[in-house]
Amino acid sequence: MSEGSPHDLLTGGSADLQSLRAVLGDCHRCPLGDTRTTVVFGVGDPGARLMFIGEAPGRNEDLQGEPFVGAAGKLLDELLASIGLDRSEVYIANVLKCRPPGNRDPLPDEIDTCTPFLNEQVRLIAPDVIATLGNFATRHVLRTERPISALRGRLFHVDGRRIVPIFHPAAALYDQNKRAVLADDFRRLRAVLDAAADDPEDVATGQPSLF
Ligand code: URA
Repeated sequence: MSEGSPHDLLTGGSADLQSLRAVLGDCHRCPLGDTRTTVVFGVGDPGARLMFIGEAPGRNEDLQGEPFVGAAGKLLDELLASIGLDRSEVYIANVLKCRPPGNRDPLPDEIDTCTPFLNEQVRLIAPDVIATLGNFATRHVLRTERPISALRGRLFHVDGRRIVPIFHPAAALYDQNKRAVLADDFRRLRAVLDAAADDPEDVATGQPSLF
């Protein structure tokens, strides 16, 4: 493993988000480096208690260098506001840091190459709660093939962290039923955050579900 690789940071253990971003650099570790415009690292509070993980940057994100800045991002901001949060108070990242051409699904090699950076972000931010947005991020984080529709509304624990799968905001843009479900998911997310603040040991004691 060459010097400055994500593996060094994984094992080195002393990095902050800024130095992780510097290691990522003008990334060409996978072919997406040749087609994307901007590396979309992540945005928000480095000490956030709540972290969102989406799939990959879309066209707007690729141009602006920030996750969830398009229509789905506007809905995400509204949903955050509905539970008393601003995007500056949470952290938002994606499984992939670069846009797949035409927004196609991420490929296994791309995921494998990018995952150490996401893992490092999670380790450095150390959020109480991770909300996975949609099928792709949820399956990746929970290491399952089950669909988001079977997983949303439940609380999971992975590596000592609370994981709350929710619908992807893009899926709710033109579907009022899904939007109502998503609003409900955010209310549950607020409850999980509040419970985590009241009882930080909850994960350690292995309480299976709040719902
Ligand atoms: N969809 C995602 O999953 N991530 C983004 O950053 C934008 C849209």
